[in-house]
Amino acid sequence: MIPFLDLNQINEPHLPAIEEATLRVLRSGWYILGNELKAFEKSFADYCEAGYCVGVANGLDAITLILKAFDFPAGSEIIVPANTYIASVLPVSALNLVPVFVEPDPVTMLIDPLKIEEKISPLTRAIITTDLYGRCCEMDTIMQIAQRHQLKVVTDAAQAHGALFQGKKTGGIADATAFSFYPTKNLGAFGDAGAVTTLDKSLAEKIAYLRNYGSQERYKNDYQGVNSRLDEMQAAILSVKLPFLDEENKRRKEIAARYLNEIKLPDLILPPGDRINEDVWHLFVVRHNRRQDLVKYLENKGIQTNIHYPLPIHKQQAYAHLNDEQLPLTEKIHREVISLPLHPRLTDDEISYVIQSVNQFDS
Ligand SMILES: Cc1ncc(COP(=O)(O)O)c(C=O)c1O
Repeated sequence: MIPFLDLNQINEPHLPAIEEATLRVLRSGWYILGNELKAFEKSFADYCEAGYCVGVANGLDAITLILKAFDFPAGSEIIVPANTYIASVLPVSALNLVPVFVEPDPVTMLIDPLKIEEKISPLTRAIITTDLYGRCCEMDTIMQIAQRHQLKVVTDAAQAHGALFQGKKTGGIADATAFSFYPTKNLGAFGDAGAVTTLDKSLAEKIAYLRNYGSQERYKNDYQGVNSRLDEMQAAILSVKLPFLDEENKRRKEIAARYLNEIKLPDLILPPGDRINEDVWHLFVVRHNRRQDLVKYLENKGIQTNIHYPLPIHKQQAYAHLNDEQLPLTEKIHREVISLPLHPRLTDDEISYVIQSVNQFDS
């Protein structure tokens, strides 16, 4: 049986160092907003070539706090990808802003930069780009559009720690970038955790206050903030794992390269391999017009797959008022996608077995 992902297996090599780090925190008597967080924020900002990093409670809050810091008037429109996880869009509606969906590029499945401008109105204030599956969006074009229309760019890089666009790390490109360290991510904590990175010092400071009740100084509140802090325990664990992120991403690239070169099944659409070394392959998402049959077949072969994602945001009950929107490409993608197992602990034999099994589908 090849599981889609096994967190014990993922974390196993790091456990001795994590045990030491967590014991240090347990015995420190300091659990929130301390030196462990400061140290992780510094190393993650450096890693992302971003200047500043603010640890927060999770990836959803990271996006919410960025938008809150920009303080757009209620009713402002925010351009969002139609093909993404719902967490990219929930912060928009939660802050009484209006999500305006843009269809993906048919090959990358990421927000199509050529379809953004037609959705910009006098009310538009920002563009959210999601580096879905571990690949950066077309940031040169998107930053140019934003500049032309004086919009902010917020990147949701929850799935893309370490991904590059033209040699630049995600996290240091947009006005602000949100990360999730949910346990299954390329850099995963042992619970919920997230961060914002930015090159803008005053924005970083504002987000740091907002995550802590809007307070710069104890019991003095400059903003109506929230409680969304990355705790010392998770920060210490992330500091143990961060130095291994590039090595683990490299293994993901090797696996992706084998899948791209060796999977040969008519009617199966592979993800683009043009930026194989810049992508971090959080997910290896293929498409097939008989998805359910392929999922069942692989399940019978002992290969667990996953679907990212089965129902688009605009078709969810939570967004019933948007259910009539016409986003045909997004809907087609949601009908066809299948994620194959891809994680740094997958063995060469397991990779060969997945390839061989996929290639034999329907034969
Ligand atoms: C694309 C994307 N955005 C945002 C999030 C939200 O992160 P979190 O679960 O840490 O709130 C996730 C992951 O869950 C995600 O995959």
